[in-house]
Amino acid sequence: MAEEKGFPPLKNDRLLRAARGEPVDRVPVWVMRQAGRYLPEFREVRAQHDFFSMCRSPEIACQVTLQPLDRFPLDAAIIFSDILVVPQALGMEVQMKPGEGPVFPSPLQGPEDLAQLCGPGVACPKLQYVFDAITLTRHRLAGRAPLIGFCGAPWTIMAYMIEGKGSKTMSNAKCWLYRYPEDSHRLLKIITDTTVAYLVGQVKAGAQLLQVFESHAEHLDLGLFEEFALPYLKRICDEVKDQVATLGLPDIPMIVFPKGGHYALSQLGRLRYEVVGVDWTVEPTVARQLVGPDKTLQGNLDPCALYADPKAIDEAVKDMVDKFGRDKYIANLGHGMYPDMDPQSLAAFVTAVHKHTTKS
Ligand code: CP3
Repeated sequence: MAEEKGFPPLKNDRLLRAARGEPVDRVPVWVMRQAGRYLPEFREVRAQHDFFSMCRSPEIACQVTLQPLDRFPLDAAIIFSDILVVPQALGMEVQMKPGEGPVFPSPLQGPEDLAQLCGPGVACPKLQYVFDAITLTRHRLAGRAPLIGFCGAPWTIMAYMIEGKGSKTMSNAKCWLYRYPEDSHRLLKIITDTTVAYLVGQVKAGAQLLQVFESHAEHLDLGLFEEFALPYLKRICDEVKDQVATLGLPDIPMIVFPKGGHYALSQLGRLRYEVVGVDWTVEPTVARQLVGPDKTLQGNLDPCALYADPKAIDEAVKDMVDKFGRDKYIANLGHGMYPDMDPQSLAAFVTAVHKHTTKS
């Protein structure tokens, strides 16, 4: 078991308890992209290294993972890495261009390009550096908070592999869904098989919670989602949980975050994920109705609310937690921190969650 590797005992299990629907003394809080360029200490490290070299160095990945925890009383660490390490391991080149984001110099042009991808058996061992970063970070965290591992969901990864960069319409990737449905399923299966092995590897290495980012859900509708996204999200959760159990490892809560996927919340509420993350376009009360009473919800303040002054942040957080309630709830933003944000704004967010959710 992960604990048997001699990891320091966990001193703060609020996030794990809330994820499992158990009572907590106050609502746990962490934020997406909590390790990132809004922190001057991150920019200092980043100035000296290429983005993916940072991911590949367990020492550096661990260092930047811990940076936000040294500043703010967060209830989780999330391992510094990127969802695009999976397409890299499948054999594709990905560069991180400052100011532009990720770029694939040779994206998939058509189904014939699938032959160039390697299988999960070859891809997964290439991600050993992520496993090493997780194990190192579990030790250095010294039990301050649980460590979240993550991956991109298959549709989101497929869209990057075809578009080669961000896209307003995702029309190239969606073209595959309509024109080459069978090849799309073939690609989604390769990504899913790799992702299952990758997440099980993360749990073996010491991840205590897993989040699956379906960041491009907003480009689908329910019909496309049910055909090309939902079955793979289901397989990932079922197979990771089953394999973790077979290995005798402890059950790990899993979070699914469908950014822009409001239309699929009731479908996602029927999968085995313990937590469903929502973005700020979804009213908390509506999210609760759609997802059902049993799941834990995570979210969902508009990240741009952090541009407001601390008093307004406090009020926005109070409004958010009043709507979500204090049980079966994890406070977060509806998406990640932006590079131009003031770290003090995140401090105000965390302070407000503490203030408005601590049970007396
Ligand atoms: O603190 C954390 O949240 C952990 C680290 C993390 C990163 N990427 C580091 C990162 C996580 C969880 C991710 C996930 C990720 N990566 C997603 C899913 C979440 C989401 O945003 O929807 C996606 C879509 C990616 C792909 C990606 N990586 C994009 C689109 C970009 C560019 C956007 C930007 O902010 O510039 C990245 C780059 C990236 N990933 C950075 C960081 C800290 C900034 C890059 C840099 O330092 O140059």
